[in-house]
Amino acid sequence: MSRILLVSNRLPVTVKVEHGEVLVTRSPGGLATGMKGPHERSGGLWLGYPGDIARLAPDQRTALEARLEELRYVPLHLSSGEVSRYYEGFSNGVLWPLFHYLLDRIPLGDRDWESYRRVNERFAELVAAHYREGDVVWVHDYQLMLVPGMLRKKIPNARIGFFLHIPFPSAEVFRILPWRAQILEGLLGADLVGFHTLSYMRHFASALLLVLGFEADVDRIYTEGREVRLGAFPMGIDAAALSTLAGSAEVEAEAQAIRQPGQHILLGIDRLDYTKGIPRRLLAIERLLEREPSLRGKLRLVQVTVPSRTNVEAYQGFRSQVDELVGRINGAYATVHSVPIHSMYRSFNERQLASLYRAADVMIVTPLRDGMNLVAKEFVASRTDEDGVLVLSELAGAASELGDALVVNPYDIGEVAAAIKRALVMPEAERRTRMQNLRRRVLQNDVHGWARSFLETLEEQNESMSAGGLA
Ligand code: F6P
Repeated sequence: MSRILLVSNRLPVTVKVEHGEVLVTRSPGGLATGMKGPHERSGGLWLGYPGDIARLAPDQRTALEARLEELRYVPLHLSSGEVSRYYEGFSNGVLWPLFHYLLDRIPLGDRDWESYRRVNERFAELVAAHYREGDVVWVHDYQLMLVPGMLRKKIPNARIGFFLHIPFPSAEVFRILPWRAQILEGLLGADLVGFHTLSYMRHFASALLLVLGFEADVDRIYTEGREVRLGAFPMGIDAAALSTLAGSAEVEAEAQAIRQPGQHILLGIDRLDYTKGIPRRLLAIERLLEREPSLRGKLRLVQVTVPSRTNVEAYQGFRSQVDELVGRINGAYATVHSVPIHSMYRSFNERQLASLYRAADVMIVTPLRDGMNLVAKEFVASRTDEDGVLVLSELAGAASELGDALVVNPYDIGEVAAAIKRALVMPEAERRTRMQNLRRRVLQNDVHGWARSFLETLEEQNESMSAGGLA
C-alpha cells in the first residue's frame, strides 16, 4: 500500500489556549472524523493547521510538536493575518456561502484572494518537502482548491487526488466568482477530483465548459496531455464503531435518563452555521405547536449547536438570531414542566452524542444546503434498536442515499412541520422498516469503503496511464 499524504486545512486535532491552559481538542466536522481511519492504516502523514500554537510558551510548543509528530501530523502554522484572510475571509467568507447558494452572505470586499493563493502555495511547498517517490497525495476541501495545480508544477509525476466535502454549485452560481478560472485550473492539477454526489460532479463539468471551454467526456477530461478523472464518492462514517458505542449499556442508560415519560424528543445537532437551516427548523416547531395544541408540553427539541467560525462576520449575528427565536418560542409555549426548545451551545463528546441519538424519537436534519451531512448517518448508525425517524433535507447530499428518511424541502416550513407530525404518529412497523433500510445503507457504505474506493480509482487510473493508455 502506498503511503498517503493527507492534506486538509485543519489537522484532526485543534490546539487552543484558554486561561493559560493548553487544550488539544478533536476538530469539528465530518472531514476530521472521517479521515482518521485511513490515516491510521496508511502509515502516511497528515498535513494541516494545528490551531493556536504560536501563543504557546516555548516548552509547551516543543512538547506539543513532539506529540503531533508521534501521531504523524505535520503542522502548517498560519499567522493571525492568514487565519483572518485565507480562512475567515476567503474560504469561509466567500467560497463557503457561494458554494451553498447563500449569495447575500458574501461580503463586498475582494481583498482576501491573494492570501488564499499564498497559503495554498505554502501548503503545496510543505507537501512537496515531505513527498517521497510513490506517495499518494490526497488533498481535501474548498480551502485548498489551488493546491493540486501548484503541486503538479512542483512534482509533475505525483499521484494527486482531490475531494470536495461541500457542494459544487450550479455553474451559473459558480461563474459569479471573479477567480473562477484559477480555481478550476487548480483542481485540474489532480488526477482524480471527487464529489459527494453525481449532481455536484455534473455542475463541475458544466463549469469547466462554461468558464474554460473544456468539454468533459462523461467522467474524464483531457488537459495538457493528462487525463483528469471525475467521480462521485458519497462519504460515509465509521458506522460499525458508532453502532458498537451506541449499543453499549452505558449509552443505553444515558439515553434512558434523557427520555421523559409522555414526552417526544426531537433532536438537532449542527455546527452553528447559517447553512444548517436552524431558524427555519425552529419556525417549523413553532408552526407545529401553533397548529397542534395537543402537542404542547409533550415535545421537546434538543438542539445542540457546536460553536464554529466565531470570528467570521456572518456567523456573529447569526447566533443572536437563533437565541432570539428560541427565546420567543419558549416564551410562548413553555409550561411549568417543560420547554419546547432545549438549546445548548457547546461541543459534546462521542458518547454523549450517541446517547442523544439513542434517546431521540425524531432526528431533524434540515440544512439549506449541505455537501453530505454525516450527522444524519451518525443518527442511523446509532439506532441499534432499529427505531427512530429521520427527517432529512432534500438539499443535503445524504438525501440521494437515504430515501427512507422523510425527505423535505428545508425552505418549506409547513412541509417540515408536517413531516415532524408524521414522524410522531408513524406506526412502529413503518418506523422499523424505514430504519432497517437506512441502516443497511449506512453500515454498508461506510467511511472505510469510501476512502478505499477513492484511492483505488486513483491508483487504477495511474496504472492505465503507465501502461501506455495515454499519450
Ligand atoms: O466539511 C466542511 C468543513 O469545512 C471541513 O472542511 C471542516 O473541517 C469542517 O467543515 C469544520 O469547519 P472548520 O474547519 O471551518 O471549523
